[in-house]
Amino acid sequence: MLKKFFACGVMSLFIMSCAAILAFAADPGPAEITLGEGGKKPAVFPHKKHQDAFKCADCHHGMADGKQVPYAEGQKIEKCETCHNTTALAGKTKGSLALDTLKGAGHGNCLECHKEKAGSDPALKEKKIDKCDTCHPKK
Ligand code: HEC
Ligand code: HEC
Ligand code: HEC
Ligand code: HEC
Repeated sequence: MLKKFFACGVMSLFIMSCAAILAFAADPGPAEITLGEGGKKPAVFPHKKHQDAFKCADCHHGMADGKQVPYAEGQKIEKCETCHNTTALAGKTKGSLALDTLKGAGHGNCLECHKEKAGSDPALKEKKIDKCDTCHPKK
């Protein structure tokens, strides 16, 4: 009787902690994404592969009073275009990049990192991760 009760207790603790982990882990989103689908230069993006190598905060952030706020665990994650459009971020730039376009957000995040990594790792340079075709494969 006591033994059964104990086993049952351990079992329900286990189930409860699983439920807690499921409830608190951030929604990882799709494993594969195509950005700018239907546009002139769609970009392929292996999301899962990047999640395994980088932090959510390396790419996701929020906004308050029109300013960028760093990613916080559990925050709502929205599509880049929700903010990177000509209404929310009109006229904002980063160097020569127009941040009020998806291209500006994409090149400011994706291309900058690819250039940086290719510059410091010969194997990644060899893989041409800094070249257009990596993200915009020829059809
Ligand atoms: C290397 C950059 C990068 C990393 C790292 C990354 N993401 Fe993403 N994530 C993106 C991009 C880009 C999109 C597509 C946004 C869009 O469609 O505009 C996306 C989309 C998403 C979406 C879907 C949003 C929507 O409304 O369609 C979720 C959810 C998400 N990511 C969660 C996460 C979580 C959680 C992590 C960390 C475990 C993470 N991402 C790590 C770049 C990244
Ligand atoms: C909730 C709104 C919001 C969302 C969603 C958002 N951004 Fe931003 N982002 C901003 C704001 C605000 C700035 C700062 C603009 C300024 O003041 O120059 C910014 C700046 C940037 C910059 C330039 C500064 C830097 O960090 O390098 C890049 C690049 C960028 N965002 C990429 C992205 C990408 C890629 C996504 C989608 C994965 C995304 N953003 C989603 C609001 C957002
Ligand atoms: C923080 C750095 C970083 C960011 C941001 C980033 N990447 Fe990458 N990406 C990498 C690195 C490093 C690799 C090479 C991984 C390897 O082969 O070891 C890579 C590889 C890739 C590949 C090739 C995958 C393969 O299977 O060979 C594609 C396509 C790609 N990235 C697209 C994107 C797109 C699109 C974005 C923006 C939405 C993005 N990346 C953002 C660092 C980044
Ligand atoms: C690391 C990934 C990556 C690399 C490398 C990259 N881009 Fe992009 N590019 C993107 C993303 C993400 C977008 C935004 C989504 C879209 O419109 O495809 C984009 C958008 C664009 C657009 C806008 C398309 C439209 O419909 O408005 C053009 C043009 C473009 N890129 C040209 C280039 C050229 C030329 C190169 C090489 C010098 C290049 N890109 C390299 C990720 C990349």
